[in-house]
Amino acid sequence: MNKQPVNLAQLLQRFERLNHVYFQYSQVELITKTADLVVCLDQNKFLRVVQNLVTNAVEAFDAGGGRIEITAEPLSEWVQVKISDNGPGIPEEIRDRFFEAFVTQEKQGGTGLGTAIAKSIGYSEIDAA
Ligand SMILES: Nc1ncnc2c1ncn2[C@@H]1O[C@H](COP(=O)(O)OP(=O)(O)OP(=O)(O)O)[C@@H](O)[C@H]1O
Ligand SMILES: [Mg+2]
Repeated sequence: MNKQPVNLAQLLQRFERLNHVYFQYSQVELITKTADLVVCLDQNKFLRVVQNLVTNAVEAFDAGGGRIEITAEPLSEWVQVKISDNGPGIPEEIRDRFFEAFVTQEKQGGTGLGTAIAKSIGYSEIDAA
């Protein structure tokens, strides 16, 4: 981990810029709601987690477009970041195995690693704290 203090609103703006063309092409509206928070994190790893989860949402829209919301709010000494979308939701059959590696559903070419990577980054972040 290469942790540094980062302004979360600015980092999410950067995420939005990096994905501008992707969102335009996919007809996705991204809404970010975050207070002016400075958090200590590994920027590249954080962006990887957000990218994996947001890409899942875009793929679940299945070319129909949709809305993705990212919110961040303080939770005791942590900051809670939530990512939600108005797509069809996680298929019932895989909900309890969602974060396991190689669990993929209704998708051509999905490896099922996106959420497993997100989880492992999240846990190493917590362990390192
Ligand atoms: N936002 C979402 N909406 C609906 N289903 C989702 C969403 N996120 C994940 N899923 C479901 O969970 C499965 C697992 O997601 P995960 O990111 O781990 O793998 P993947 O997207 O299939 O493959 P990869 O990320 O490796 O390309 C997906 O195949 C999809 O069925
Ligand atoms: Mg994925």
